[in-house]
Amino acid sequence: MKVLTVVGARPQFVKAAPVSRALRAAHEEILVHTGQHYDESMSAAFFRDLEIPAPDVNLEVGSGAHGVMTGEMLRRLEPVVLEHEPHGVLVYGDTNSTLAAAVVSSKVAYGGGRRPWLAHVEAGLRSFNRRMPEERNRVVADHLSDLLLAPTDGAMEHLAREGLGDRAELVGDVMVDAHAWAAERADDHLPAVARELDRFVLLTMHRAENVDDPSRLSAILSGLALELPVIFPVHPRTRAVLGATTRLPANVVPIDPVGYLEMVALEARAHAIATDSGGVQKEAYLVGVPCITLRSETEWVETVDAGWNRVVDADPGAVAAALADHEFMNATRPRPPLYGDGHAADRIIAALERLDARIRGTHPVQEATAS
Ligand code: UD1
Ligand code: UDP
Repeated sequence: MKVLTVVGARPQFVKAAPVSRALRAAHEEILVHTGQHYDESMSAAFFRDLEIPAPDVNLEVGSGAHGVMTGEMLRRLEPVVLEHEPHGVLVYGDTNSTLAAAVVSSKVAYGGGRRPWLAHVEAGLRSFNRRMPEERNRVVADHLSDLLLAPTDGAMEHLAREGLGDRAELVGDVMVDAHAWAAERADDHLPAVARELDRFVLLTMHRAENVDDPSRLSAILSGLALELPVIFPVHPRTRAVLGATTRLPANVVPIDPVGYLEMVALEARAHAIATDSGGVQKEAYLVGVPCITLRSETEWVETVDAGWNRVVDADPGAVAAALADHEFMNATRPRPPLYGDGHAADRIIAALERLDARIRGTHPVQEATAS
């Protein structure tokens, strides 16, 4: 089986790492990087830390408005798919790279009307907030895909409700696989800034709805003026906004974005984590650190139901209140394995093999559905 994987942004490198490793044990993978993230600390650091093979192709699309970025990805990816003629294409998550790869794969046709199948890892997530670009990207990717690889029961239910249940499989969350692999290697990677501290809060923030809205951003930042130090690896989108307009509270220590092993080490040592990231909410749960989510809703509702995550929106008093809440900060409450057993990657490969056999075995060519 020949699979073309498309990644482009930081969380996709993390998700693809375990799947790529499992896939390459028995199959051929063409790894395409769209170039959506390109700074050393946003891209190369992840390939190094997670031991991901170098991309076979880098489309070098870089930053831009949604239409420009997505359009360039469509234009540059199509000839790559046509050149390699993979049996299938694998996409991850909900970024513009996901959207572009899903659109190209579902429309491209090889000789004889054959086309590649399309499989979506982390399918079925919904915030039910259509203002988020990620929500629009993931809905389109799900509806275009032949195989929906869902991380949770909740994701399976969303897919069933949208009429996609017969294409969906529950495989667990690949971020559990990635985290377990990294946790075994992260001990020596705690950044120097954290080594001297007994207690700190770890902060990440990059969502457009938070950092591109000055009043919301200043409300969130004012709520981070705490007694405790706050270590803040700053995403480049956020760096651009902070540099121009905003001052950080004195206890907030901004640092460059960190590599994955450093991040896993920071998360494990944090007293609490405040974040608007999707992946970081789950990682907080995996290491048993209370998480305060700086958004109005979350896709990862299981962490909230389990008592480990509090969604506080941009309420300036809510972070201090959460830290002072002994019940919430009690790190001994149960943590059932909400996101699977760390073998999602193996289940994904098995599901891809079944899909590929069905499409190429019983029907030697999959007819193009586009007219
Ligand atoms: C993207 C994803 C988001 C994901 C996040 C992970 C979309 C619509 N958004 O958001 O879902 O949670 O990645 O981090 O796909 N920049 C750099 N260097 C880089 C990358 C970005 O300086 O290596 C700066 C540029 O100014 C760029 C801005 O960050 O315009 C935003 O980057 P972009 O990829 O558009 O969106 P993210 O906020 O990173
Ligand atoms: N991450 C990292 N270094 C950082 C910030 C995040 O390694 O400085 C990792 C984090 O541990 C998680 C992933 O990047 O695995 C999440 O990416 P991000 O928050 O950018 O995107 P989201 O998950 O919100 O889409």
